Amino acid sequence: MADPRLQSLATALPALRLKTAPADLEHYGRDWTRRWTPAPLAIALPASVEEVQAIVHWANANAVAIVPSGGRTGLSGGAVAANGELVVSLERMTKVLGFDAVDRTLTVEAGIPLQRVQEAAREHGLQYPVDFAARGSCTIGGNIATNAGGIRVVRYGNTREWIAGLKLVTGRGELLELGRSLVKNSSGYDLRHLAIASEGTLGIVVEATLRLTEPPPPTNVMLLALPSFDALMQVFAAFRQRLQLQAFEFLTDRALAHVLAQGGQPPFAETHPFYVVTEFASDEASEAEALAAFEACLEQGLVADGVISQSDSQAAQLWHLREGITESLARYVPYKNDVSVRISAMPAFLAETQELLASEYPHFEVVWFGHIGDGNLHINILKPDDMAQDAFVADCERVTKLLAQVLKAHGGSISAEHGIGLVKKPYLSSTRSEAEIAVMRGIKAVLDPNGIMNPGKLFD
Ligand code: FAD
Ligand code: MLT
Ligand code: ZN
Repeated sequence: MADPRLQSLATALPALRLKTAPADLEHYGRDWTRRWTPAPLAIALPASVEEVQAIVHWANANAVAIVPSGGRTGLSGGAVAANGELVVSLERMTKVLGFDAVDRTLTVEAGIPLQRVQEAAREHGLQYPVDFAARGSCTIGGNIATNAGGIRVVRYGNTREWIAGLKLVTGRGELLELGRSLVKNSSGYDLRHLAIASEGTLGIVVEATLRLTEPPPPTNVMLLALPSFDALMQVFAAFRQRLQLQAFEFLTDRALAHVLAQGGQPPFAETHPFYVVTEFASDEASEAEALAAFEACLEQGLVADGVISQSDSQAAQLWHLREGITESLARYVPYKNDVSVRISAMPAFLAETQELLASEYPHFEVVWFGHIGDGNLHINILKPDDMAQDAFVADCERVTKLLAQVLKAHGGSISAEHGIGLVKKPYLSSTRSEAEIAVMRGIKAVLDPNGIMNPGKLFD
């Protein structure tokens, strides 16, 4: 530990676990973007709120920047440490601290993986409904810091809806207890919401109290094949009118081809340009409504084929066709757009965006999928093997500028659910006004006056 700053940290906090081996710096310094070269100062692995506070006090005194770190499954570079920062990983803070049957809340340390929270809720006969493919690795702290969405937002909303309270160690090292699980509280600003989607720029979330809800009904999964993009929102409207949807997700034939290239059987004899995975209760009435919606769409030429799960394992196979996309594309290190508009603005936005991307990306493979029921599209651009990464990113940045203008015209957001991080920083002003960004900077200056919390993320 040659660096004198680390010696001073070790002296100030002799019990703190620190990692400095090159393999660790590499491992903890990157997220799923894989675009930046990791170069953190060291990795700190606190085991208590007090240790987190002491680290923040030390970082202020020594002018060392901190990158809060969860599962590093983020897709915007928020957890990247490429400039000598101290990564503060919460991987030793994973305990379930309590369950309250009356309040229906679960209190956890923020480093706990999402899947462990889902399991703990089930053990109490309840459900924590935020869900997505990174569940095994992403953490509640990371979910809060990005306001993660996922595959059930159409039914249950984003992470924000499920945070009854949280504890934040601010950039000043103070511990704030926010929300305190009150259902009603009209006593001024709700500071809890400042921490949600703050991407580690205001402080470190150390604990959270999560709302739980009734377990979901037994469900069926239906895979629909669609002939056109235009049909998508009409099919959504037809199904939503008749059913309480648990999910409504879409993917293109390109996305399906990448998943199937990793293994598995094509769902239909023929290929179709677009697919929808939808889920709804499996009771008799819901099934009848789903079939009626399907038949009405078939008659109008909005769907071309469909299959409904006959067992849990078939439902899982159908879900894999949607949930396996991110992993199947990872080897291309894709450039990701994660955009949203109001659901009502989706048809016009889709038409304009399709046209833009077809003309601007004639040589790149573009893979579309996403949470279409929430107005959230994921557009993944794949780097050709023979193109240098820098040139590829530069071209994608050029087109993203144009996309940001289209989004602005339709009142949309440049980041629906992954966060701004490093990837989308240049486009923040397409979604937020200068006045809003100035307020955000002001809030940061109060909670993190020395600018030590995740500098360079979200804004400079
Ligand atoms: P990290 O990547 O470690 O960090 C993300 C951000 O949060 C960083 O800015 C970091 O500094 C900050 N942070 C982390 N922990 C804390 C803390 N305790 N306090 C303060 N700040 C903190 N996202 C979706 O929204 N919906 C999806 O459907 C979805 N699907 C995915 C599927 C796959 C296969 C993968 C790899 C990712 C997916 N993601 C999705 C993105 C990612 O999983 C989420 O953004 C997740 O919330 C990140 O959690 P994490 O613990 O990995 O956070
Ligand atoms: C998803 O919806 O699968 C995730 O947000 C991940 C991604 O966009 O790759
Ligand atoms: Zn998503």
